[in-house]
Amino acid sequence: MFDFARLEAVNINQEAPEENPERQYYFMKKCREWAKEEEMRAGHPLTMSVQTLGCQMNAKDSEKITAILEYIGYRETEEPVADFVLYNTCTVRENANLKIYGRLGYLKNHKKANPSMRIALCGCMMQEEDEVERIRKSYPFVDLVFGTHNIYKLPELFYSQIQSGRRVIDVWKEAEEIVEDLPGKRKYPFKTGINIMFGCNNFCSYCIVPYVRGRERSREPQDILEEIRGLVADGVTEVMLLGQNVNSYGKVVTKGQVPESMMSFAELLREVNTIQGLKRIRFMTSHPKDLSQDLIDAMSECDKVCTHLHLPLQSGSSAILEKMNRHYTKEQYLDLVARIRKKMPDISLTTDIIVGFPGETEADFEETLDVVRRVRYNSAYTFIYSKRSGTPAAAMENQVPAEVVKERFHRLLETVQQISSEITAEKVGSIADVMIEEMNEQDSSLVTGRLSNNDVVHCKGDKSLIGKIVSVKLTESKGFYYFGEIV
Ligand code: 5AD
Ligand code: SF4
Repeated sequence: MFDFARLEAVNINQEAPEENPERQYYFMKKCREWAKEEEMRAGHPLTMSVQTLGCQMNAKDSEKITAILEYIGYRETEEPVADFVLYNTCTVRENANLKIYGRLGYLKNHKKANPSMRIALCGCMMQEEDEVERIRKSYPFVDLVFGTHNIYKLPELFYSQIQSGRRVIDVWKEAEEIVEDLPGKRKYPFKTGINIMFGCNNFCSYCIVPYVRGRERSREPQDILEEIRGLVADGVTEVMLLGQNVNSYGKVVTKGQVPESMMSFAELLREVNTIQGLKRIRFMTSHPKDLSQDLIDAMSECDKVCTHLHLPLQSGSSAILEKMNRHYTKEQYLDLVARIRKKMPDISLTTDIIVGFPGETEADFEETLDVVRRVRYNSAYTFIYSKRSGTPAAAMENQVPAEVVKERFHRLLETVQQISSEITAEKVGSIADVMIEEMNEQDSSLVTGRLSNNDVVHCKGDKSLIGKIVSVKLTESKGFYYFGEIV
């Protein structure tokens, strides 16, 4: 947990400490002094806009970034333009990169009107040398660039930028250490993500993540448990344990050797489940190849673990799965699902599917549809294959023509949506626990929450319910969400 006492103890009139996080606390305080003066110069409170693309990992990183900037003296704004604008980028598919260049173009003119505005970029796209080169050459108005491995160094980098007035670019190829005890600003007071591990060692042949997030590193279980206990004491009732592949948690740690205190993911779940005051546990993401029977047992035994499992399929064709380097076949995946359902008949399964991987034939695609029909996912994230340079799949022959991919994509979406609406319809009339998360964006008489299985429910209610778990009768299903009444 973030330790204010340690931060307060840091003396900024001396040299910067060598050790982290003290070193970063030092620069946070230094930046804070500067921000007070900057605010006087600007004549208005300093604002920040932290914009996040991509996955839960990025969302978590943005919580850390926001907390640091808030301590320094920036206030969050909903506006896309602010005194400090940061884009936390994603590069899993090409569209995400294009979006960033579009937004930078938009910011350029605003910065002309407000030269004291600062623009920063971080996240996965910044781990790609070509992209950083392009920013360096063609986007001189970007002030700060850092990567996924040195987020904790933001205070030091920011201080260096404001002192020099020059742009600072600092991207590391690999992580050096896991720095604990930095602040985090939760988007919701009652739920948050917890990193349990970083990086990915799987090298699925289409995926850029292992190149931009580096090798797998697991945090020490005691650090994780202590963080969660601290969060629960601070009002958190739901946690999402985060990792690119949580099932391989504990197999690799920061400095090479696995210490004795390390546990498997199943053991960690059991420990987290004993934390008093915690109500719901979720996790993301599981690779089917590493999902052990022990984990299935742990999930079914731990009452706080939600009735939801995200189990990326990617393709239903064993031939394509092999080319994807996924290490399972269609039959093994279906067998795994059968074992999961046997232990937990009520579990909701969701998945990720890629359409149009190089060499995918109509017959391969039919295999994917077949798995979708057999498993009956509650919902599925469907993606059109995007060629990422540097990955093995980018060099593969037989890239599938765009029109073919589009047509398959629509067929898949239709099948997924049809099944999803059938599954939600089955629950209408039943009563279930809903964690109320926020006011409904469209209708202020409604609140929105989630079932344990992650389905969204809207019902009449007010602000006082936010963060509470209430019993709701599900009265109507709308494809992939419900309307309900609190009972
Ligand atoms: N093209 C399309 N989808 C991809 N994903 C990862 N890489 C690519 C790519 N190159 C999808 C996978 C993964 C999800 C997070 O993004 O389905 O599970
Ligand atoms: Fe990418 Fe595969 Fe790692 Fe997931 S498991 S991040 S798809 S390489």
